[in-house]
Amino acid sequence: MKATAIAPSNIAFVKYWGKADEKLRLPLNSSISMNLSAAFTTTTVEFQKGLSRDDTTIVGGAFDESECARVSKQMDVIRTHLGVKEFAKVVTQNSFPKSAGAASSASGFAALVMAAAKASEKVVSEKELSMLARIGSGSACRSIPDGFVEWKKGEKSEESYAFSLYPHEYWDLRDILVIVDSDRKKISTSAGMELVRTSPFLQARLDSVEVSLTNVRQALKNKDFELLGVTMEAEAINMHSVMMTQVPPIFYWNSVTMEIIRSVHEWRVDGVEVYFTIDAGPNVHLICEGKNEKRVLEKLNDVVGVKKSIINSPACGAHEAQDHLF
Ligand code: DP6
Repeated sequence: MKATAIAPSNIAFVKYWGKADEKLRLPLNSSISMNLSAAFTTTTVEFQKGLSRDDTTIVGGAFDESECARVSKQMDVIRTHLGVKEFAKVVTQNSFPKSAGAASSASGFAALVMAAAKASEKVVSEKELSMLARIGSGSACRSIPDGFVEWKKGEKSEESYAFSLYPHEYWDLRDILVIVDSDRKKISTSAGMELVRTSPFLQARLDSVEVSLTNVRQALKNKDFELLGVTMEAEAINMHSVMMTQVPPIFYWNSVTMEIIRSVHEWRVDGVEVYFTIDAGPNVHLICEGKNEKRVLEKLNDVVGVKKSIINSPACGAHEAQDHLF
């Protein structure tokens, strides 16, 4: 049977940076995120008799060898879990160009797992889907459930999965993803994280992350935008401090990133309620409430060096779709 799934990318308010178990992708800490409406992946999977390997293609682009190998490795994990023997034809498409700088591994692995599970015609719970997606790429487990999501770190594989804290309609937030550099990441998240223990700041990060998690849970519960913003900004700076103090150090920001960080603080002084967060790259996510989107975009217009911006609202999690890609 052929099945298609759509899964969103997500932005973390409390970040995942560092693994307790590299192979299983068990994280050092729990994290909390929001699914993104404008950055998603659509994937069609069909298990086919007669294939001697997985046949993987991406619409409008090309997977390199290591990407194909990572997809096949994940398909092996799925096959073992579901008891499927056949290799699969896999076709995938991103809503954003790979070069746009939006995370594609989260949406990519979430869509792959959901489509493969449906194609297998087995009954698979949301928790299992999230757990399986995590093994492909840690942050992908957060793209399975709806809306605002927590990934519980867990001590073993079955305990490390994400669940929805609130559905996407719960809070009308925006994530304006500001693209300042559309080149591919210089250092992948997986490679960067392997060196996390070389940072003298890691322990300080892990000591403070529980408070950040509590604050973000509280901020979501009470729709307290200031608490959410202050916590998420500090969290992003905290994670980047660890990255910058690893050996060798990783500097993901560029001069336009810095200019936006500086401007956001100025805009708040001017009364525009907006905060930033940044993942493993130079692009900046501006988080505001829906009612302030226009004012933030107006302010952003004055920043030199912005290539484009992608406006996201909170989105539902991975789901089945009827239009197949082949
Ligand atoms: C900085 O999930 O891409 O975006 O598990 O190695 O595939 P792997 O890492 P990945 O890491 C995401 C890191 C981050 C922070 C976050 O999204 O929590």
